[in-house]
Amino acid sequence: MHAMDAYTPTPRPCWIAGQPEQGVDVLTVTHPFDDSEVASVAVPGPEQIERAVAAAAAVAREFRSTPAHVRAAALEHVSRGLAAQAEELAELITAENGKPLRWAEIEVRRAVSTFRFAAEEARRSDGVLQRLDTEPGGEGRIALVRRFPKGPVLGISPFNFPLNLVAHKVAPAIAVGAPILIKPAPRTPLSALVLGDLLAETDLPAGAFSVLPVGNEATAALVRDPRLPVVSFTGSGPVGWSLMDAAPRKHFVLELGGNAAAVVCADWPDLEFAAKRIATFGNYQAGQSCIAVQRVLVDRSVADEFIGKLVDAVRALRDGDPHDPDVEVGPVVDTAAAERIVQWIDEATAQGAKLLVGGGREGRNVRPTVLQDVPKDSKAWAEEIFGPVLAVSVVDSVDEAFDQVNESAYGLQAGVFTKDLQVASRAGAELEVGGVVIGDVPSFRADQMPYGGVKGSGFGREGVRSAMADLSEERITVLTNVSL
Ligand code: SIN
Repeated sequence: MHAMDAYTPTPRPCWIAGQPEQGVDVLTVTHPFDDSEVASVAVPGPEQIERAVAAAAAVAREFRSTPAHVRAAALEHVSRGLAAQAEELAELITAENGKPLRWAEIEVRRAVSTFRFAAEEARRSDGVLQRLDTEPGGEGRIALVRRFPKGPVLGISPFNFPLNLVAHKVAPAIAVGAPILIKPAPRTPLSALVLGDLLAETDLPAGAFSVLPVGNEATAALVRDPRLPVVSFTGSGPVGWSLMDAAPRKHFVLELGGNAAAVVCADWPDLEFAAKRIATFGNYQAGQSCIAVQRVLVDRSVADEFIGKLVDAVRALRDGDPHDPDVEVGPVVDTAAAERIVQWIDEATAQGAKLLVGGGREGRNVRPTVLQDVPKDSKAWAEEIFGPVLAVSVVDSVDEAFDQVNESAYGLQAGVFTKDLQVASRAGAELEVGGVVIGDVPSFRADQMPYGGVKGSGFGREGVRSAMADLSEERITVLTNVSL
């Protein structure tokens, strides 16, 4: 593929302890839209993985005491390097993931910011002093409270944001001085390998990073390895929970799925805006985002007008070839996903849901779909569909809407279209989710803000500063005989 040539010596080397290496096997990355070959990638073998882990463990002490300016400079270098090749990288993301170019371009811009935020935070992070003479026995004593990395991190990232969700593992780890081994999704390893190229140009010590494009079967051994005390996983619930069960004493960050809800309240004045935002963010990346809108709760008093506008907005979305700059909805990642999504739509309609628009697929392009009155135990309502499907439910009050948002096994983000301050503050307090967005869809994410879920959506927080806190722990040094 044209734009990929610069990125794809064949096979594209993996990164073992900061060095490019060929592997013991080769993985072919194909385009989800047309199955064309995008690149081949070196798959490291057990001896190489062992060297990556051993190097991370060996460098941990040195890396955590690297000066902040060295870590910040490395992160700034990556941020600038990503910005300099933004166009090619967006093409690469589209080629490996299938998301339309417009969404790939946004992902690159976000990754540039993620690394920049991490550079800023690396410089900013410092300790606090706590006086201890507040009780008898503590006279002349003071505690120096500082944060230290918990240890080398195993980052496991998904296919849906092949660059920025890797960035959210790598950047905070480097900012706190924790070596990181990143295992990208086997379908989409190319953007992570570009990050490896940029990291290799920095002054980070050998062993501070490795990029291991290994199959999922290699994950279990890495998760169990005691030299990697922190596992940061983004992906499906069943996989995340089973990894944690395999190593219950480790520190885990689990960013799992969701079936995010948008609530349209009776007071919201601009139904056209709400309909367009929900249509766009139910279908962006073909619904393959953990915070894509899936469930829509609309107040009965505005339901007819809103649903009409929503159906029009969904019908107006252009789907097709993701390299076409006008296309908004591209393919889902593989045929199995497309088949499953259509099956869930068909199950919902067989159970009584109304199909307002869409249904079916062309190849891996699932038609943008709106369902109404989906039974609450139907998969299209209760599970994470991870496809371009909206399920609308009409409610009679804010209470009923909030109850329905909360009647979910998941809790990542929710959006509430209201101008009413009381409703907004209730939403923040009562909705069982990690984040509430007032006046917009649940899909809004700024990369500096805390991001993560409750219930089946996992625990721990990303967002650079929160992730840095998660990957590190407080340690105190008590000083005695201090003049206070
Ligand atoms: C996710 O799918 O969890 C990430 C969403 C985002 O970063 O926008």
